[in-house]
Amino acid sequence: MRLLLVGATGTLGTAVANEMKSDADIISAARTNADVKVDITSTESIREMFNKVGEIDALVCTAGAAHFGHVKEMTPEQNLVAVNSKLLGQINLVLLGLDYIRENGSITLTTGILMDDPLVTASSAAMANGGVQAFVRSAAIELPKNIRINNVSPTMVTEAKEKYGSLFKGFKPREAKDVALAYKKSILGAQSGQTYKVY
Ligand SMILES: NC(=O)c1ccc[n+]([C@@H]2O[C@H](COP(=O)([O-])OP(=O)(O)OC[C@H]3O[C@@H](n4cnc5c(N)ncnc54)[C@H](OP(=O)(O)O)[C@@H]3O)[C@@H](O)[C@H]2O)c1
Repeated sequence: MRLLLVGATGTLGTAVANEMKSDADIISAARTNADVKVDITSTESIREMFNKVGEIDALVCTAGAAHFGHVKEMTPEQNLVAVNSKLLGQINLVLLGLDYIRENGSITLTTGILMDDPLVTASSAAMANGGVQAFVRSAAIELPKNIRINNVSPTMVTEAKEKYGSLFKGFKPREAKDVALAYKKSILGAQSGQTYKVY
């Protein structure tokens, strides 16, 4: 199985790569330090990536940024970070990647707990997560070639506690390897349109 893992060098991507390495040939993708370079905010860059990589069986995205800030101070430009990266970046991977995904293949995108459990300063991230989840649920009923699509919605992982711990007060972190199992279920299982919540 050929697995294209976008965001492979990050906290979640590394855990997914470890979990999947015995089941798949993994092609890592990111803006830097990866087998293939891609910036998911650019459709041109996504097209180039798929052209280079060719046919795959599984597409996983663990990349996607968002601006964190109070709604009353957020500018439309700041909100566009999440729109262009976490929301459209992931959805464009699907739109431009479908031709490259083989029969019975799968797509797994990343959302997050903020769409279910609001936190001050996290509205833009929540917006992107909710949009991706809704897209996944709807797209699942019409993807060609029996391709499945799911999203994994993690809580903060233990490995990211230093980075996000001050924001996620009172949240119980989960280990990245537990979150990686949800990606594995999506890639190797038979379900489609699902949101795998690891909270
Ligand atoms: N960590 C958590 O606790 C947690 C919890 C819930 C949800 N999430 C979500 O999961 C996703 C990944 O989180 P993470 O903590 O693993 O992030 P991370 O450690 O910052 O890793 C992000 C990965 O994506 C790549 N990347 C970033 N921007 C990109 C772009 N525009 N195009 C292509 N690749 C890009 C990075 O490599 P380059 O910088 O080289 O491009 C890196 O490989 C995010 O959407 C985050 O909101 C994370």
